[in-house]
Amino acid sequence: MDALSAPPLRENWMVKRKRACNTGDERLDWKVSARKRVLGIVGSPRRGGNTEILVDEALVGAEEAGALTEKVILNKLDIAPCQGCGDCQQTGECVQQDDMSALFEKMAQSQVWVVGTPVYWHGPTAQLKAFIDRCYARERELARTRKERYAILVIPSADHAGVARYTVGMLTTALNVMTAEILATVLAPGVFHRGTPR
Ligand SMILES: Cc1cc2nc3c(=O)[nH]c(=O)nc-3n(C[C@H](O)[C@H](O)[C@H](O)COP(=O)(O)O)c2cc1C
Repeated sequence: MDALSAPPLRENWMVKRKRACNTGDERLDWKVSARKRVLGIVGSPRRGGNTEILVDEALVGAEEAGALTEKVILNKLDIAPCQGCGDCQQTGECVQQDDMSALFEKMAQSQVWVVGTPVYWHGPTAQLKAFIDRCYARERELARTRKERYAILVIPSADHAGVARYTVGMLTTALNVMTAEILATVLAPGVFHRGTPR
């Protein structure tokens, strides 16, 4: 079974673990509550790395609140970079046939997107950027089918939190354009080696 056809990672809503994503913001509890679909999107190529650990924790927190969660690893998917042909602005579809269509359907069905990327050279990873670029084809569809949508950003970095500023700015703006309100921004500065946030 491939990453996109796999069933939701955890349907056990009774998982008891501390929430990495507990920001103290009561809105977060409310927004990810019962029967919401929460999609984790991991932009790091490093499996079991800091981004994935923190996205997993956010998903566990969502499950504790009663949500149905699923996780995709962008590096395992076939998502070609945008070619800038502009056809999608007429058709609403990308000319490239790859995993992006199925991923977009999952996004459209989810109320909350947990978007994680480590800081790479002061920006997101190439995998995350390719994914965001490809959302260009569906931006208008998201606006047309506007509904309650939220995003949680998860951004580890080796250096201090300030190095995440361009990544936070770019993702916040891009996701806002995709009609998602940013619910929380989880920064994890000072983590370099895999597994440091545990
Ligand atoms: C190619 C590359 C570029 C990086 N650039 C930065 C950077 O500009 N600033 C920073 O603080 N950390 C940088 N890092 C470190 C990662 O952000 C850090 O190790 C992060 O915890 C990795 O997350 P992961 O385990 O999910 O892959 C870089 C790492 C790599 C591999």
